[in-house]
Amino acid sequence: MKVLVVGSGGREHALCWKIAQSSLVDEVFCAPGNGGIASDAVCVGIDSNDIPGLAKFAKDSGIDLTVVGPEAPLTAGIVDAFRSERLPVFGPGAQASRLEGSKAFAKEMMRRASIPTARFGVFSEAGAARSFITGADFPLVVKADGLAAGKGVIVTSSKEEALSALDEIMVSRAFGEAGSSVVVEERLQGEEASFIAICDGEHIVPLASSQDHKPAFDNDRGPNTGGMGAYSPAPVLDEASCGRVMEKILYPLVHAMKQEGITYRGVLYAGLMMTGTGPYVLEFNARMGDPETQPLLMRLKGDIVPLLVETAQGGSIRDMELSWEEGPSVCVVMASGGYPGSYEKGRVIEGIGDAESIPGVKVFHAGTKLVEGRVVTSGGRVLGVTALDTNLKETIDKAYAAVARISFEGVHFRKDIGHKALKRLP
Ligand code: AMP
Ligand code: GLY
Repeated sequence: MKVLVVGSGGREHALCWKIAQSSLVDEVFCAPGNGGIASDAVCVGIDSNDIPGLAKFAKDSGIDLTVVGPEAPLTAGIVDAFRSERLPVFGPGAQASRLEGSKAFAKEMMRRASIPTARFGVFSEAGAARSFITGADFPLVVKADGLAAGKGVIVTSSKEEALSALDEIMVSRAFGEAGSSVVVEERLQGEEASFIAICDGEHIVPLASSQDHKPAFDNDRGPNTGGMGAYSPAPVLDEASCGRVMEKILYPLVHAMKQEGITYRGVLYAGLMMTGTGPYVLEFNARMGDPETQPLLMRLKGDIVPLLVETAQGGSIRDMELSWEEGPSVCVVMASGGYPGSYEKGRVIEGIGDAESIPGVKVFHAGTKLVEGRVVTSGGRVLGVTALDTNLKETIDKAYAAVARISFEGVHFRKDIGHKALKRLP
């Protein structure tokens, strides 16, 4: 079969790499892809938001399955557009993707399904939000309702900060239309973890647990990024907590969506805060995590394609399961200096082949492109250097040994990826 992956980041590189290994798959295409994806798939120069262009390509090329990586085309309705043309596609439709596209919608669904989440209010008018903030007797987080490329969330430590966050989002519109309504919620304490699963509308197949590192600098300092590294499994999400997430969060959510007439088919990603009283939901995403996908797919044994096909076709995944390497995997993101702020592009990257010559290392590309046969930087997050080994300490060391072989001007990476997990191990 022929598979098209939509997107151009590290997540999509990992998807192409894994899908290309399937015995069911003859050819993988990626739109638009990047400099590294070009070695695992045929890159097609169509933007990931050009839904008519992608549909035309899928039809003309006889694509048997399209897998959508990023949230923007999902919330814009790529899945609905493909289905209306009978093109098999993996991902939730536009209505279901509102779980990620509107934080207010996600909160409302959580309230209906009694899912543990921070106390909150939703406001489309600044005055009412101000009164809520002034009256709250707990620390607050202020969130733009809509998609803001992961940036529309301000965690505050005082009422003054919360009020100025509100002004930034709702009055100055720092995140544009995403800030026309806001969610103001209680600031929770704990360690964050990612729980990602595949859902056929009724049944749920969990992936292994994972953990991201959002802040730019070591010890979780500095501004939030798309994610500076990840590992799987996440010891903070032990087996009992995973069971609780399935039972108290994912199944109730999917059933509540169904009651609203929305069949949720695709990836369901719960961003969790592990609190003293169990897992609480910070957010839902309608797609795989980036960079969590890189270590997850490194650890995944066997083929993911049957699960994607069955879900895309509207079949049942009740009897399907995934199996995982016992050992952990760790992904260190190498970023352009300055990211998540402004940064230079076009820096030549050396040493990727050398890094990948270490057994159990794969370098996934995020912001790279090929220029005259050389790989150069073209984005904030540039590479996801991912290692798999038998124990966590060795895996971390291996990932950093691979990182040490790669260089480009201005490179920045965190030196403490995986350290939280190390601290939890005996
Ligand atoms: P979100 O996009 O909603 O996941 O928020 C982005 C980041 O903001 C999360 O990864 C957390 O680090 C932080 N955050 C969001 N909501 C809360 C909350 N209620 N309490 C504490 N931190 C939060
Ligand atoms: N790594 C966080 C995310 O994909 O949203």
